Amino acid sequence: MTTSTEPALRYSRIVRDHIDRGVGVPRELYLSDELYAEELDRIFRRSWLLAGHESQLDRPGRYLTVESGDESVIVARTSAGTLAAFSNVCRHRGARLVDAGCGLARRFVCPYHQWTYRLDGSLQGAPRMPDDFDPAGHPLPTARVEVWNGLVFVNLSDTPVESLAELLGTGADLMRTFDIAGTRIAHTITYEIAANWKIVWENAQECYHCNANHPELLKTFDVGGLNQDTYRETELVASSDRRVQHARFPLRPGALSLTLDGTYASRKPLGDFADGHPPYTAAIHLKPSFALVACPDYAVVLAERPLAIDRTEIRMSWLVRADAEEGTDYDTDTLIKVWNETNLQDWALCERAQLGVRSRTYVPGPLSNDEQSVIDFYRSYATLLEAEDR
Ligand code: FES
Ligand SMILES: [Fe+2]
Repeated sequence: MTTSTEPALRYSRIVRDHIDRGVGVPRELYLSDELYAEELDRIFRRSWLLAGHESQLDRPGRYLTVESGDESVIVARTSAGTLAAFSNVCRHRGARLVDAGCGLARRFVCPYHQWTYRLDGSLQGAPRMPDDFDPAGHPLPTARVEVWNGLVFVNLSDTPVESLAELLGTGADLMRTFDIAGTRIAHTITYEIAANWKIVWENAQECYHCNANHPELLKTFDVGGLNQDTYRETELVASSDRRVQHARFPLRPGALSLTLDGTYASRKPLGDFADGHPPYTAAIHLKPSFALVACPDYAVVLAERPLAIDRTEIRMSWLVRADAEEGTDYDTDTLIKVWNETNLQDWALCERAQLGVRSRTYVPGPLSNDEQSVIDFYRSYATLLEAEDR
């Protein structure tokens, strides 16, 4: 159900007014339940959401769920070998079919009254129904599913949306070298942050805070290079609505990867780097919920999900080449060290900001030269809020 455009437009006007003046957004943007409902409906329901990596769905019956607001979707590998995405809500009396997570199933049997669905979401049968009941008339509602570089995304919109390939198109060349499709998930951490989801995105957009807060990341990450005025002009590529941004990530001289000592954390380089391609690191964002940072030896993918107006879940997965073996080619603690420490530092900052913006004394201040990406974020956010009802 799409809500009235009125509150969404009111908030987008407030955002544009502040951002055009180069100041942050006012506290109501982080505190309003009315706005939060609009964001779930107008932004997250219409966005491509990261479900996982294709390697998690490598044979018929493997499935995983994607949660967003009140919605839950099952993504499954069907008997025909294709991917299907459909609602995780029984067509009988609405029970959730499977618990959130991943698994292997021959079919999906509702725990309540045992209506049984095939791996493509069609209803196979239902016990003790009247003679004229037609299972074919009760499939689970489908969602769009698309694979980009081995990463599986779903879209819960019930009206047409841009294809993911189109949306991320300009980033394809930059990312091709890493062969993300040829990786697998080595480790996943799900974080819960006591902060509004936009505070978490703002934080991820800027490195104004990096020098003072990220000692591990700064061992290899060249924050000075990121902040040079020319960087945005020469490296950063963005879609016209700023929803997609991608760029090379500047490393300090001599560093090969975002690790504590700058050497590879995995001995099995990704993609073309195994054949001697000169090392580089790169990142791509799809606002509001997905980011990928790729190094020559590993990558991280991040999925953001609002849990409540003041709570956000971030799921980060570390990817290594599919044939890399734990203990031989990489050590998990070393692999995850830099990003896990950086994440924990960031979440503490986000929670601190959330506490602050709750105060009536908070009046947003001017943004620095290093926070242009925060402005980009809010421009794309306002555009999403303003999108026509579809
Ligand atoms: S609610 Fe699923 S079978 Fe009744
Ligand atoms: Fe940070």
